[in-house]
Amino acid sequence: METRVAKSAGFCWGVKRAVNIAVDAVRKNGKVYCLGELIHNKREIERLKKLGIVFIEDIDVLKKGNTVIIRSHGVSPKVIEFLKRKGLQIVDATCPFVKDVHEKVMKLEKEGYPVLILGNPKHPEVIGIAGHVKSPMIMNTIEEIERLPKLSKLGVVCQTTLNMDFFREAVFRLALKVKELKVYNTICSATSIRQSEAKKLALQVDVMLIVGGRNSSNTTKLYQISKSVNSKSYHIESKEEIDSLWFENAQIIGITAGASTPQWVIEEVVNYVRLLDKGGDISGRGVCQTIR
Ligand code: F3S
Repeated sequence: METRVAKSAGFCWGVKRAVNIAVDAVRKNGKVYCLGELIHNKREIERLKKLGIVFIEDIDVLKKGNTVIIRSHGVSPKVIEFLKRKGLQIVDATCPFVKDVHEKVMKLEKEGYPVLILGNPKHPEVIGIAGHVKSPMIMNTIEEIERLPKLSKLGVVCQTTLNMDFFREAVFRLALKVKELKVYNTICSATSIRQSEAKKLALQVDVMLIVGGRNSSNTTKLYQISKSVNSKSYHIESKEEIDSLWFENAQIIGITAGASTPQWVIEEVVNYVRLLDKGGDISGRGVCQTIR
């Protein structure tokens, strides 16, 4: 049995940066707070908790002088204002690519375009982007776009982890409805590379494992993309969820992972699959890397 691991599997640049910023902050300050989970991966969160990072959902528990980390998803200016008023020390780990989306929606609003954000309205990144303009629309399905009336102007951005196929379809439909349409493709290249590699790999292998938190939207999207071309695709959070029956008659196993999945979790999965096939050849080709 051969195991192929997607080159792009695991932490993206922005997540790596946020984790490093948080670890540096905890080293300097002893204890730091983070608004929500720093990354959508339970096991990495457990590791960070042990280092002294306290994850909170309620801002009110913070007291003057506390250090608080803004995670890579970013927040709205209102939240920053509130934290400043409370006298907190802010460590901003917002991904620069997300900051760029903040700039773009503000620019669109200034230019007089009603703003549409394509993405999940409940996702913290989308909530943060929306908080930078007065009354944005947020849409997550083609049906919602179809229900839009004809418009004279519209400015569009999207969640950095949006599915590229959905983005294409959405922009195509919008172009039929809007006279003056200004679109920024704000899908992060880390996302589009991961998605196209996942699709290519899923087409080459018998079984695909997609490793990452079930609460991670980018991992879930990788799983959906993989499943659409390879029915034997499985979303797992850890090696413990692997069922050896999945590999019956399989020759090639593909593995990819979301942008919030640490390398050590991926390696555990690769090593476990290797163990299942003692003496098997673990090699990489094409879009893949070799883990030895
Ligand atoms: Fe940033 Fe892209 Fe990762 S937006 S957090 S580098 S997926």
